[in-house]
Amino acid sequence: MPYDRDLLLFGAKRHAVLSLEEVQQYGIDNYQDPDYVSIYGLRPSQAHAMGVRLLGRTAVECTRDDLAEAIASDVAALARRSPSTFQLVIDPFAGSGNTIFWLLRKLADARAIAFENDPLVHDISSRNLALLNLPLRLERIEFSVGLEHAYAAPGELVVAFIAPPWGRALDARLGLDLRRTEPPIAGIVQTIVRHFEPNPMLFAIQVHERVEPESLADVVSHFDAFEHKVYPMHLEGQNHGVLIGCVGWSLRPARGKRRRTVGSQQPERLG
Ligand SMILES: C[S@@+](CC[C@H](N)C(=O)[O-])C[C@H]1O[C@@H](n2cnc3c(N)ncnc32)[C@H](O)[C@@H]1O
Repeated sequence: MPYDRDLLLFGAKRHAVLSLEEVQQYGIDNYQDPDYVSIYGLRPSQAHAMGVRLLGRTAVECTRDDLAEAIASDVAALARRSPSTFQLVIDPFAGSGNTIFWLLRKLADARAIAFENDPLVHDISSRNLALLNLPLRLERIEFSVGLEHAYAAPGELVVAFIAPPWGRALDARLGLDLRRTEPPIAGIVQTIVRHFEPNPMLFAIQVHERVEPESLADVVSHFDAFEHKVYPMHLEGQNHGVLIGCVGWSLRPARGKRRRTVGSQQPERLG
């Protein structure tokens, strides 16, 4: 039986605690790499020896080290160029907690809030973070409810990393449809913007290298500036990327317009 996305994400292993061999098998079967699911800066064998455990769904869904570190570096570089000197980092769909772990490594003085609504994922990830003594607490809560008690100080930059379950939103031909993630991306962005306005905000949305164009246009209409960046780490068609968006601030002053959209596929537009 192949250890693939169907078995781990949608099948019998979704809520099963995986053995080390199973974690490695998923990496081998899908990416020819037993260390593919490296998180918290550890290879699977190191993590397992320290007591770290993963559910099937989290092995597939987690933002593993290579990608999380790359995203966190880019986000931190932009955050440092914002008008704010202090930041609130928020991960409403925390899963393993690995992305917010990397964001805090790169934005060391930031405050952090992380939500996770699956009780089993929350339980295992919280234990992992405690075992590794990582200074991060996940709240077991639906993100929209958790947001209600999240507070940003005046002028504080809100950095939101958004990676909800993709479910069936990724189509091999059309790419990732941002309207079909669970929940859809534009609604999440709107909820966060409504909650934190008028604070400056920086959104980082984990995406695939191909994004369905209309769904992309819909999401970026909420941003003052944006960039879609791809991290070429795998074969074409298997790469992930990030959609970065600024709200309430931008690296370049707008000429004549209060809100504007810059960017598309040209990384220097926000660089
Ligand atoms: C794609 S995973 C995120 C992976 C994460 N970036 C990591 O590094 O592990 C999405 C997570 O969001 C959780 N989730 C889904 N809907 C949610 C909601 N409405 N509120 C909070 N968490 C949610 C899922 O249980 C899942 O663990």
